Amino acid sequence: MAYTVPKLTDYSDAALNRAEEEARSAFDAELMAVSAGTGDIGENIEIVRVRWLGREKGIVNKQIPDLWLKPAPKEAKRSVGQVLNRLKRHVEIYFHPVIGNVPPIERQPFFLELQAVDITLPGARRPIGAEHPILKTSREIVAVFQKLGYSVAEGPVVETDYYNFEALNFPPNHPARDTQDTLFIAGQQAKPQRERLLLRTHTSPVQIRTMEKLRPPIRIVIPGVVHRNDPPDASHSPMFNQIEGLAVDTNITFGDLKGTLDYAMKALFGSSVKTHFRPSFFPFTEPSAELYVTCFICGGSGRRGSDPCRPCKQTGWIEVLGCGMVDPNVFEFVKDNGYDPKRVSGFAFGMGTDRLALLKYGVDDLQLFFQGDVRFLEMFG
Ligand code: PHE
Repeated sequence: MAYTVPKLTDYSDAALNRAEEEARSAFDAELMAVSAGTGDIGENIEIVRVRWLGREKGIVNKQIPDLWLKPAPKEAKRSVGQVLNRLKRHVEIYFHPVIGNVPPIERQPFFLELQAVDITLPGARRPIGAEHPILKTSREIVAVFQKLGYSVAEGPVVETDYYNFEALNFPPNHPARDTQDTLFIAGQQAKPQRERLLLRTHTSPVQIRTMEKLRPPIRIVIPGVVHRNDPPDASHSPMFNQIEGLAVDTNITFGDLKGTLDYAMKALFGSSVKTHFRPSFFPFTEPSAELYVTCFICGGSGRRGSDPCRPCKQTGWIEVLGCGMVDPNVFEFVKDNGYDPKRVSGFAFGMGTDRLALLKYGVDDLQLFFQGDVRFLEMFG
């Protein structure tokens, strides 16, 4: 049924939009009908042109101005004017001299394209993507170790109990094995414990996986995602990132561990940073330590001007990673691949990438990294 211009009583934006859309689709439908129809296409197109653009009675040049614009209340005149201009453009473009030479049936793509391009508008800015701040931090850390001759290894996020715990010397009832801390995959009870699947709670299982594949000497860093059963808050997330390191060779000592990590921290946080090791415990390293660096926010003073420094809790030190000498019990699991604990020694370390990114960029809520809010991410572009 042919379109007739309705009278408007409602001049709200919604009503105007509806009226505009109705007129526009009516025009499109008439064109399509002509293009697809039999009859003389040229002649029929001309009929449509006059019906819509005719000076005397044309829909956009006469009827709409008379029926919509003239009676419009003063405050709606501007909106109606805009609707009218858009419709005019929509229709006129179709009879554009260039596309006018294209056979009607083939005009639709030109028509749509021209409609989409208004050369009077400023160009569309194509935003260039940027590295996510966590990925950026991760790459920086990895690059520091690559310069020292380390290669990059990766491993699965869904891991077996064997690699996540057993081969790392965790006793059967260690608290980390509890559902309080670890997210287990459901329905695994029928399997022997070592084959049960879980979300890895650290990147350390890749130590074992790598030593199974590569004979010593090795030097690797392992970036990756890990999961723990922690409710999300400003400093916790059930999903976070770690970077693991492992060096195994003959005669690797705790001195090598200290020297390597001291060098890496200076490369990451600046040459004035001091490092400090405190005894700690991990089932897979012996001895174990936590590494602290002088707070790079307050420079180690514990104060920011007259305020207490929050990131280091006024201590002047920030814990950045766990580390230690690879426990001989761990080597026992890969002994057959050349890791005889009597012949080789090594050190390992693991750090929380997200926490380092947090400190590095002075962000106070970890969740911001995971929410994907472009306004936040743009600040790192
Ligand atoms: N895997 C330990 C953690 O997640 C960190 C660590 C890695 C400690 C390597 C020592 C050696 O807490």
